[in-house]
Amino acid sequence: MKIAILHGPQDLRIEEQPLDTSQLKPQDIWVETRITAMKIGTDRGNYEGAEDVPGAPIFPRWVGDSNLGIVRKIGRNVRRFRVGDRVVACLPHQSEYIASEDGPVVAVPAGVADEDAVYGFLYALSALCFRKAHYQVGENVAVLGLGVLGMGATALGRAYGANVIGIGNSTLRLEMAQRMGARHTFLYNDPNLKAQLAAVTQECGVDLVIQTANPWPAYQTAVEIVRPGGRVSIVALPGRGEPPLDFNPLDMKWFYHKGISLIAVAGQSGEIYKGQDVRFDRNRSVAHVLQLMEDGRVEPKRLVTHRFHYTDIKQAYEMAFQRNKSMLGVIFRWD
Ligand SMILES: NC(=O)c1ccc[n+]([C@@H]2O[C@H](COP(=O)([O-])OP(=O)(O)OC[C@H]3O[C@@H](n4cnc5c(N)ncnc54)[C@H](OP(=O)(O)O)[C@@H]3O)[C@@H](O)[C@H]2O)c1
Repeated sequence: MKIAILHGPQDLRIEEQPLDTSQLKPQDIWVETRITAMKIGTDRGNYEGAEDVPGAPIFPRWVGDSNLGIVRKIGRNVRRFRVGDRVVACLPHQSEYIASEDGPVVAVPAGVADEDAVYGFLYALSALCFRKAHYQVGENVAVLGLGVLGMGATALGRAYGANVIGIGNSTLRLEMAQRMGARHTFLYNDPNLKAQLAAVTQECGVDLVIQTANPWPAYQTAVEIVRPGGRVSIVALPGRGEPPLDFNPLDMKWFYHKGISLIAVAGQSGEIYKGQDVRFDRNRSVAHVLQLMEDGRVEPKRLVTHRFHYTDIKQAYEMAFQRNKSMLGVIFRWD
């Protein structure tokens, strides 16, 4: 089995590791990978050697968490999958794997293209930004940071009936956000940003900011542009890999006086469904976004700007490292 292993900052190698597929445990499935997708923010952060994220492994470590493949063999008790199923998994860049059927693996509906489905877990995270913030249909939603997660939130926001406003730091990304469904786009440092937002929200203001950019200035923009009483849904990891702050992120002028809510996009959502099991656990959330793809409501493959064979993975990470703005959706082929 081939797997991409990061041995330290910028030291990414494809390695051969043993994988015994001859005898599966009763609940295991064996999957051969077709494609994987890069989650630039997280993947680049690890590649740069930004400080560890809680729960993530230290070096040497695997990378990637969007894997699409075909089930080749199943254990005798497996019920959710059959041999030949296409599945998307929150698992690393690797040529094949064995996983429990209860793991982060979801079957892909027949009508959904590989390059859409591979973004299932990423889009589920973008969906969590809405769900955790109790998004209401028709709200003014500013997506701050236009990487893959931001583009996912943009496309979903459009499908969910939001007035989506994309805010980024490059005109190229603003154009991409328009193609993904943003009704309005602005640069974060537009001197007239507040007036522009007032105009495109009919003076109601931004109800919900979805913050997908890590740098502190992005957080500052988020708390400045959200309307009084609004919510900021933070999927980014503010300040990851940056020096300490020179401002107070909970300054009264933004937090108490405006009475805003800061929401961590982590864990699970669905607390309105009391008394049931977790209604929108991660796999169910992935099934939801796959359904939107099947219905043609979102099409993540529009994000794809680059395709590489897995043997060129290092080249792709180097491009991301250079913060090449033309690079957004990156697919690795594992044939
Ligand atoms: N909560 C979770 O479970 C979870 C899971 C996965 C990822 N994350 C976090 O979510 C972040 C987003 O992921 P991603 O893959 O979409 O990352 P990404 O590709 O880095 O997207 C963030 C985008 O925001 C831009 N940006 C930086 N500063 C900005 C500012 N002040 N205003 C507007 N835009 C700004 C970045 O530009 P530059 O490239 O020029 O900086 C980049 O284009 C990741 O960095 C990761 O840390 C969280």
